[in-house]
Amino acid sequence: MLFKNTSILPLGLAVLGALNVTTAGAQDVEAIYQQNCAACHGKNLQGGSGSSLVDGKWIVGGSTEDITRVIQDGLPDRGMPPWKGGLSAEAIRGLVIYIQEQEQAYQSEQLDSKLAATSGVFSAQGETFELQTLAELDGVLWSLAFLPDGSALITAREGQLWHYRDGALTEIEGLPEVWARGQGGLLEVGVHPDYSENGWVYLSFSQSTDREDAAMTAVVRGRIKEGQWREQQTLFSTDADLHSTSRSHFGSRFVFDQGYLFFGIGDRGQKALAQDLSRPNGKMFRIHDDGRIPKDNPFVDTKKALPEIWSYGHRNPQGMAKHPQTGQLWASEHGPRGGDEINLVEPGVNYGWPVITYGMNYDGTPITSLTKKAGMAQPKLYWVPSIAVAGIDFYQGGAFSGWQNRMLVAGMASEELHLITLDGTEIVADDIILKGQGRIRDVNVGPDGHIYLLLNFRGEDKGRIVRMSPVKGSDTD
Ligand code: HEC
Repeated sequence: MLFKNTSILPLGLAVLGALNVTTAGAQDVEAIYQQNCAACHGKNLQGGSGSSLVDGKWIVGGSTEDITRVIQDGLPDRGMPPWKGGLSAEAIRGLVIYIQEQEQAYQSEQLDSKLAATSGVFSAQGETFELQTLAELDGVLWSLAFLPDGSALITAREGQLWHYRDGALTEIEGLPEVWARGQGGLLEVGVHPDYSENGWVYLSFSQSTDREDAAMTAVVRGRIKEGQWREQQTLFSTDADLHSTSRSHFGSRFVFDQGYLFFGIGDRGQKALAQDLSRPNGKMFRIHDDGRIPKDNPFVDTKKALPEIWSYGHRNPQGMAKHPQTGQLWASEHGPRGGDEINLVEPGVNYGWPVITYGMNYDGTPITSLTKKAGMAQPKLYWVPSIAVAGIDFYQGGAFSGWQNRMLVAGMASEELHLITLDGTEIVADDIILKGQGRIRDVNVGPDGHIYLLLNFRGEDKGRIVRMSPVKGSDTD
């Protein structure tokens, strides 16, 4: 497993800004730091009689395990006291995440300048490229999927499905009604691998049935004919007693594989239900691409379990892709504050939320001190601070030949595009290739090998479809 702490400058600054106004009594991590550590390590972790905790230099090491051990046991020879007896395991867990957040905020500026464009040309990881805005659309752009002719379908969470072709946009009429509140609305769009023969287009969205104040993610397919959504079939939906009033964590993305459809649903803000196999919250699912339930799904014979479940213990899966060589299913998962994850998703496996996590609550209070537990899978990669991880795709194509079979990962809050290198089933490198261009919700490799991003901007009700295209040397075109 690779641990990577990458930047989330706005959160880091917000944390620093909040230091002086910490309210008394809260088990809040900033307060714990200020009371116990600031005297030696400085108010902003910059160092004093104790060393800087943000300069990226570590006596023992910078991993979660190393920092935890130093805080627990101290470094008696050097004057760092042990905190095992004085602070709870949860408090120490929070401090480790806090130190990792602050370190990243500090390191982020250097990266900003390294990745900035020169005369409109970006360069990262052996490739040079430019960005071109293809279209600007209202709403939160959520998902993009290519049709065989190279045109694309795009969802806006507010409930619109667009067809983009050669610079022109057409809105598809007659879509199902979506519950567009909070993070809910129209989500994923997917195109069947045999679309040329069968014409099926798949959608996921938050669906409300007889209870108007509650919803759950549903999956349908239909055909687009003369700009109209037609012949809809419901492939997955739940009764109203399984719906939730929460406006968060709906999932979901699609992967098609050998006649199956994989998709995920988030915990819907009800953490504990991610461990409950009778509920759809916090699960990955596998169905046949016509909605039938596969007879060999891992929980078909488990009493009360939903038979569509493939894996569980997920918080909010927001990206999913099939590895082009191994066929394995990879997924990103939106963690809490700290603890965004990349997982290799396998049948029947428990991914641990909320029993284990590398994150804490957004207010700085702990969720658990546990990051590992027997019977629960570890992520292949996690980020502290969280990047607000979203869509993922594997690169295949001729345009960026150096990135073959590597994973592209979109970050929203961090406004980053990551390029992840795998060796078998392990992640061996995580590099940022684009930064500060907007919140990236989805990333897709086009049939032309160019990379397509859906960007949104803080405080704006518009999104952009952006293409990353290689820039060749001046002697070629
Ligand atoms: C009495 C002063 C003092 C206090 C209080 C203190 N530390 Fe330290 N800490 C030190 C010293 C001294 C070192 C070793 C610095 C060196 O040798 O360069 C150290 C080292 C560390 C290191 C390892 C740094 C590295 O570069 O590897 C960590 C992590 C750390 N402290 C965290 C904390 C945390 C978290 C707290 C509060 C719970 C805390 N410390 C409270 C004095 C202190």
